[in-house]
Formats: sequence, C-alpha cells, structure tokens
Amino acid sequence: MLVKEGGKAEDMRVLVTGGCGFIGSNFIRHTLREHPEDQVINLDKLTYAGNPENLADLEGDPRYLFIHGDICDAEAVEEAFSRDPDLVVNFAAETHVDRSIMEPEAFLRTDIFGTFRLLEAVRSHGTPRYLQVSTDEVYGSIEEGSFDEDSPLRPSSPYSASKAGADLLVLSYVRTYGTPALIIRPSNNFGPYQYPEKVIPLFITNLLEGRKVPIYGEGTNVRDWLFVEDNCAAVDTVLRKGEPGRVYNAGGGNEITNLELTRRLLELLGRDESSIEFVPDRPGHDLRYSVDSDRLRALGWEPRWDFLRALEHTVRWYRENRGWWERIRSGEFRRYYRRQYGGGL
Ligand code: NAD
Ligand code: TYD
Repeated sequence: MLVKEGGKAEDMRVLVTGGCGFIGSNFIRHTLREHPEDQVINLDKLTYAGNPENLADLEGDPRYLFIHGDICDAEAVEEAFSRDPDLVVNFAAETHVDRSIMEPEAFLRTDIFGTFRLLEAVRSHGTPRYLQVSTDEVYGSIEEGSFDEDSPLRPSSPYSASKAGADLLVLSYVRTYGTPALIIRPSNNFGPYQYPEKVIPLFITNLLEGRKVPIYGEGTNVRDWLFVEDNCAAVDTVLRKGEPGRVYNAGGGNEITNLELTRRLLELLGRDESSIEFVPDRPGHDLRYSVDSDRLRALGWEPRWDFLRALEHTVRWYRENRGWWERIRSGEFRRYYRRQYGGGL
C-alpha cells in the first residue's frame, strides 16, 4: 500500500488522463467514492470519444479539477504535472480497432507518443507512481489456454500494436531510468458511458432504435467480458498495491462468442434472431482473447459482478439514458457508421 510521507493512505492526488472517456469517467467516480479524501486531476483532449457529460455530476466538487489538453502536448502535460500528483493513471488513448484499421495515425500519436510525453514528465517530476492502462489485445489471439504476463506480444491491429509499443516503452523506462511504472492489461470492458461504437453499446442502441445488429464473420470470435466497475477496482488495486515494474492481467472470466453475446442481448431487449445481420469480417480479426489474472488476484482483486446481472444493468442504463447516446449517434458517429457499415443510421 502506498502511503504518502506523513499522510494517510487515502490522502492522494491522482492525475487521470482520458478521464472523460468510458473507463476513465467510471474510474474517477470510483476513486472519489472509495477514497473520499483524494483529489483528482483529469487531463483530457476531448476527442470524439471524450464527453464532459460523463462527469457532469462532479461539477462544483472541490476534489475534482479538469484540464483540457492533449497528452502529446508537452505544455499541457506540464500544466497537469505542476499540480504535483502522487499517482498517475494513463487511460488516454485512441481505442477502437475498426477506426485504427481505417486511420491508424492518431493511434500511433496518442497511444505511443502520448505515453512517451507522460513518462518524460514522470521522470522529470520524480512522480512516485505511474500506471499504464494497456489491454489484453497486445498478446494477440489464443485458440486454447490463456496468456500470462510473460507471454510474447503479438498484436494484430494498429490499435493493439500501438498499445504494445507503449507497453514496451514503459518497460524500457523501468529498466533504464528506474521509473516507478506499472502496467495493467484488462480484457474487454462493458457498462454505462461506453461510446456506442463498441459492440455491446452499439448492439443495445441499434436494438433500442429498432435496427439490426451487424455481426462480423460468423460470430465465432470469443471475448472475455469484464464489467467496468470490476475493472475500476482492478486499476485501483494495481495503482495502490502493485509492485512497480510489474505487469498485471485483468480478465473478467466471462468468455463468450459474439453470437452467444448477441443472443443474450436480443433476449434482454425482447427481439429475435431476425435482428441479426451477418456482415463481412474485420481484417485481422483476433479469434479469441484470454488472460490468466492470478498475479492480480494475489493482490486481493476479483471480479464481483455476475456477467448476466452486469449485462442487464448495462441494458437498463442505455434504456434510461437515451438522451446521452442519441446526442452521440446524431453527431460525428453517423459519418463513421456509414463508412464502417455502408448503411446510414
Ligand atoms: P474511450 O475511447 O472511451 O476514451 C478515451 C478518452 O481519452 C477520451 O476521453 C478521449 O478524449 C481521451 N483522449 C484521447 N486522445 C487523447 C489525447 N491525445 N490526450 C488526452 N486525452 C485523450 O476509451 P476507454 O474505452 O475508456 O479506454 C480507456 C483505456 O483503457 C484505453 O487506454 C484503452 O486502450 C484501455 N482499455 C480499454 C478496454 C475497453 O474494453 N474499452 C479494454 C482494455 C483496455
Ligand atoms: P469491439 O467492441 O470493437 O472490441 P475489440 O475489437 O476491442 O475486442 O468488438 C468486440 C467483438 O465484437 C469483436 O470480436 C468484434 C465484434 N464486433 C462485431 O461483430 N460487430 C461490430 O459491429 C463490432 C463493433 C464488433
């Protein structure tokens, strides 16, 4: 457990990057709930995926400070680090595999170069702890068994290759400069506030609008679903209890094919299989992700949410927050949708 000199374990200043996105916004709320004495600084560029509405409930909270800026921009990073954070968590990234296949450049810039900027700031400020939020996708696909933290990195998409590049850079800083950095590699997340380009919120919102859902290929690809609240607890555990220099996998333990996942969503939304449309497969589509999370479990973490209950909770959230996703789906998202799926929204 990290304790500040002369301070309490809870008394931390936490710099979160990408805090206006899906996981970052859930994590900021989680931090202020679980560690009410902490302060949070959020550095976010507000790309298409960053939405200040995700944290509207924190407006006026004296424990929360928002800085609008890019992690690739040394000045913006300096402004955030001048607040002297004890802990840094880097969520900021371009995150969608299909967009990385269309236009990879922003992924290399933010996911690799942005990580470099943050590592340089950690080095020059002597920041006590830096956590890089990576992904299980850096290992690539595995047909049987699970990857552990020593498995080789074999990323398949420009997204996962950029995340793998960042991981290697982080580990090089650990070895070369003794940077107190850690890495977490979570599996696919789902839950409230996820941008509706990712499969679960895309399918829920399409179904709520009476549309069909586009399954890539035959729907046999397997993902290991992790509810976002459980991931926030995993990130918090590694951030405060992890051993610097180490990598920690965080799998949900809920492996399911895309077709099975779709059937569950159809059931929850009262629709049948005529709502499925099989569409051409994603190039380089990884068949299966699976990670062994024993190292993280040894720190006392385990997923608490039952998968079906979490899926129901998520469907309910999208039903009850129609304005949130309708605003997104009527903006830039329409252009992306047409380009990706051919048809208009
Ligand atoms: P997201 O796309 O919902 O949000 C990304 C956030 O980062 C946005 O608020 C965006 O404005 C911000 N951002 C992007 N580029 C930036 C830049 N250059 N400077 C500052 N801010 C910038 O992403 P997410 O799904 O919440 O993922 C968060 C992190 O978790 C990412 O690093 C991602 O690789 C990792 N991850 C995600 C999943 C998942 O299933 N969503 C699984 C494993 C790991
Ligand atoms: P996604 O949510 O994009 O996450 P990732 O590619 O990072 O795992 O996709 C999850 C799975 O769903 C993946 O196997 C691709 C599949 N998928 C579809 O079948 N149709 C879609 O429209 C999307 C977006 C994804």
